Amino acid sequence: MALESAGVHPVPVAVDHEGIDVAQGRVMAPAAASALVTPGQQAPMGVSLSPARRKALIDWARESHSWIIEDDYLAELHLEGRALPALASGDGADRVIHIGTFSKTLAPMIGLGFIVAPRGLVKRLTEMAWWLATPPNNAVQIALTRFMRDGHYFRHLRRTRQIYTERRSLLCDTLQRCNVPVALGAGLSVILPQPSGFDDARLALQAREALLAVSPLSAWFAKGSRARSGIILGVANIRSERVEADCHHLLTLMRSTS
Ligand SMILES: Cc1ncc(COP(=O)(O)O)c(C=O)c1O
Repeated sequence: MALESAGVHPVPVAVDHEGIDVAQGRVMAPAAASALVTPGQQAPMGVSLSPARRKALIDWARESHSWIIEDDYLAELHLEGRALPALASGDGADRVIHIGTFSKTLAPMIGLGFIVAPRGLVKRLTEMAWWLATPPNNAVQIALTRFMRDGHYFRHLRRTRQIYTERRSLLCDTLQRCNVPVALGAGLSVILPQPSGFDDARLALQAREALLAVSPLSAWFAKGSRARSGIILGVANIRSERVEADCHHLLTLMRSTS
């Protein structure tokens, strides 16, 4: 929606167990100027772009002189193993515009993001940023720079990853005890897949009224595609003393919706 409102014509490309289907993208959008991807962990299913697909994407960008916009939205909070290196850090980086924010790692309210781009684009990007929005507060930028330089950011990330991993285990264990059939771990979420036809958007609204902030999987699918139904549970805000009761409450709502 953001791309459309900026006058771009986005073409949705399918994602499978290896990530974005680059061959399909070539056929569907032969003249694409850029590809917007989340290669580290696909949003929202969590699959990482396979090495073969990474190469295919870079080959496409090189051949067609197009750009890869890499939204590395969860790299710092990769809970399992090591995060794969960013596309912007390896061979092919000259075709990659890497974007990120501090919304998840610190807080959305600080309103800071960053772009890592090939040197030739820096002037143009700086001009665009200048016209698009008010520059972020200087004091916040300076404070964050010092926070990083003095090593606090990396300590904070280490601690945050540990806390989120514990919360995710607690949520998964609780769901298992409640006999919830399949729970896919994806990024900072756990997804409960639902049968097709299950109205996940309605369930999410009902849950919200009961102060359970879950979100529907179907909302992530492009218009006109076959959306899958599911419930996305965030792990970051889990309260250990409430998780059992909240899961029971949610499951009761799910049974009454199906
Ligand atoms: C795919 C994706 N990219 C980026 C972001 C970060 O966006 P923002 O910093 O505007 O919250 C999110 C947040 O949920 C996301 O899901």
